[in-house]
Amino acid sequence: MTISSQIFLEKKGHEKIICLTAYTFPVAKVLDEFCDIILVGDSLGMTIYGMPDTIDVTLEMMINHGKAVMRAAKKSFVVVDLPYGTYEKSKEQALETATKIINETGCHAIKIETSPDLSKTVKFLTENKINVMGHIGLMPQHVRKIGGYRYQGRDENSAKEILENAKKLEEAGAFAIVIEAVPADLATRITQKISIPTIGIGASAECDGQILVIDDLLGLNKEFKPKFVTYYEDLAGKISTAVKNFSTDVKAKKFPAKENLR
Ligand code: KIV
Repeated sequence: MTISSQIFLEKKGHEKIICLTAYTFPVAKVLDEFCDIILVGDSLGMTIYGMPDTIDVTLEMMINHGKAVMRAAKKSFVVVDLPYGTYEKSKEQALETATKIINETGCHAIKIETSPDLSKTVKFLTENKINVMGHIGLMPQHVRKIGGYRYQGRDENSAKEILENAKKLEEAGAFAIVIEAVPADLATRITQKISIPTIGIGASAECDGQILVIDDLLGLNKEFKPKFVTYYEDLAGKISTAVKNFSTDVKAKKFPAKENLR
């Protein structure tokens, strides 16, 4: 389905934009009813593949999971992350990667972790008709460099740099910006100063939309809980109970039951 990124501009200041990550067909199928945007985030390196961070996520992984999500998404706008090492070298490299992802998955846009030096790359992508979502504040592909998952923009200089970065992304034609792990007043200020929607994660309730990693929302991964995560369900607990009950039934020969058999 063709969905225009323009609808998110129209929502700014009127209606919150609902975003979640998804990586698989069945989860995307459920999310599609409720989400404006489904992000096939490179967080899949951690949630699906058990990696310690997103650095070793490959383009092939992003394309395979992008395809799975696109098979399920009938109404949501689907964004796929550009993985680490596939866009930083040059704007031409970024265009080649973005084009490959869009052509092979059919997704509507790509997201790019946008350090300030990448605004020219974003401009080049948007001039080439690629819908680009920026990502500022804490950029998970930089965690090894910055020494962990730390809130960004806590001093005046770095807050100013993040605000300037947001303005550059707006000028470069990004249709929205994810703001991750920055103080609430900075995220609110950015939201007020730019005309494109901001999507917060650990940012501010004043952002134009919110995003969470679906596994966090569902309480699937309880080993690492950032302050900004709320578990809306205890899926790890529910899976554990279901598997325990299955095991008990098999041992007691209660499964398979009569109704399971011919
Ligand atoms: O990869 C991801 O899931 C993300 C979100 C946390 C915004 O970038």
